Parts: sequence; C-alpha cells; structure tokens
Amino acid sequence: MAAMNNIRNIVILTGAGVSAESGIDTFRSEGGLWEQHRVEDVATPEAFARDPELVLRFYDMRREAIQTKQPNSAHEALARLDAEWPGELLIVTQNVDDLHERAGARRVLHMHGEHLLAWCTACDTRSPWTGTLIDRPPCPACGARALRPDVVWFGEVPYRMDEIMAAVAQADLFVSIGTSGAVYPAAGLVRMASESGAATLELNLERSQGTRWFDEARQGPASELVPAWVDELLST
Ligand code: APR
Repeated sequence: MAAMNNIRNIVILTGAGVSAESGIDTFRSEGGLWEQHRVEDVATPEAFARDPELVLRFYDMRREAIQTKQPNSAHEALARLDAEWPGELLIVTQNVDDLHERAGARRVLHMHGEHLLAWCTACDTRSPWTGTLIDRPPCPACGARALRPDVVWFGEVPYRMDEIMAAVAQADLFVSIGTSGAVYPAAGLVRMASESGAATLELNLERSQGTRWFDEARQGPASELVPAWVDELLST
C-alpha cells in the first residue's frame, strides 16, 4: 500500500456488506434478497410497469425495515473519518439505506438512490418519504399519483456518475467496503482508480468478484476491518 502520508484524496465505495451487521439483508449472500425475490419481479422498470403493486409492496417493506435498524461500528468509523479527514473524501454508496448519514457522515453520494425518498415521475420532484407508496399517494409537489421508489433499478443509469468519476480520477486512495463487485458501473471503479494512479484497498467478508484488481485485500467483518483501517489512516 502506498505511503499513507502521500494520501490526500480518498474515494470509498460501500455496498450491502457494510449494513449487513445492522441487520439489513445483502443481495447475493445465501438467503439474501435476490434469493427471496426475483430481480425481474421487483427491481426493473418493466416489473414496475407489469405489476406496480408487487414492486411497491417490496419497497414499502424495505423502507419500513431500514427505519428499525441502527448504524454499526463500520458506519460510525467512516463518519469519524469524514469528520476528521482534512483532504477530499467521498463515500460513494450503492446502498439505499440512510445508515451512513445516521452515523454522522456528510460527504455521502447515493449512486443507486435512497429508500427514504419518493420520486414523482410526473413532475420529477424527489420528496422525503418514510411511509408507504402502495396506495399511490399524491405527490407533495404536484398532486399527481405518480410516485415511485427513488431507487435505481436494473437497466437504469446510476446517479451522479460524472461526480463519481471526477472524484475517482483525483483519488490517491480508493477503498471498497462490503460489495461483491457483481454490478457495474460500481464494480468498474477500482480499475478506473488504479489507472489514475490511486492505491486500492478492498475490505470485505470474503474475496469478491473484483478482488484481483486491488493492490491489497483484507477479509473479515466490516465492523472490525473498517474501524481498524480508519484508526490506521488517522494515526499516520
Ligand atoms: N462485512 C463485510 N462484508 C460483508 C459482510 C460484512 N459483515 N457481510 C457480507 N459482506 C460482503 C459479501 O461477502 C459480499 O461480497 O458484502 C458483499 C455484498 O454483496 P451483494 O449482496 O452483491 O451487495 P452489493 O455488492 O452491494 O450489490 C450491488 O446490486 O442488487 C444490486 O443495486 C443493488 O446496490 C446493489 C448492487
């Protein structure tokens, strides 16, 4: 790993594994969400057009569940790093829960959307939302009954890719935490970072589909690996 004291700009990519120890199911682990539900039934625009009730009920259930969960020590350690890191730092999360923010992190970008926002497909407004959408409530901005979960579905383009790629191009260090490397464009960021000269580190429970692209990979639970790594970084 490059000398820590040459590191100024950091990009951290997080996935479902960082929230697993808060009791939020990951997608591809045994018994994970995509074993319980078919992606084609709940996470594509086609599924929403075909059976909106099934899709809305799925996200209503997820939205309710995340509000009963608490950030874990991995979220807390990243929030501490965010508060204390003097250089550039961006937490790019694939997660649609709000646990990074509830732990206190501020420099967070949700590339796959957020459960606690509803998106009106009539007026394009995004509204804070903690309740359900199954009864097709009116949009708070325009009144249309055209709200959908503000989650990026398969086949849709992730959010704010320009900002993400600009940050990756400037990064001295790229760290991936709790993601399987199964989904692009997120899974391609490590190679982009390497090509821009960044050092790369993977913190994951097990080897991922992208482990070979990282300079260094550490295996273990995020609740242990992340606080230890943050201590290491802040002590240099
Ligand atoms: N600590 C660290 N890593 C963990 C832990 C843990 N406690 N528990 C699980 N993991 C790791 C798993 O080993 C796996 O590599 O987290 C990863 C989770 O992988 P996925 O379930 O595939 O989730 P993710 O990579 O975030 O999925 C990417 O796919 O389904 C879509 O849009 C959805 O954002 C999601 C995207």
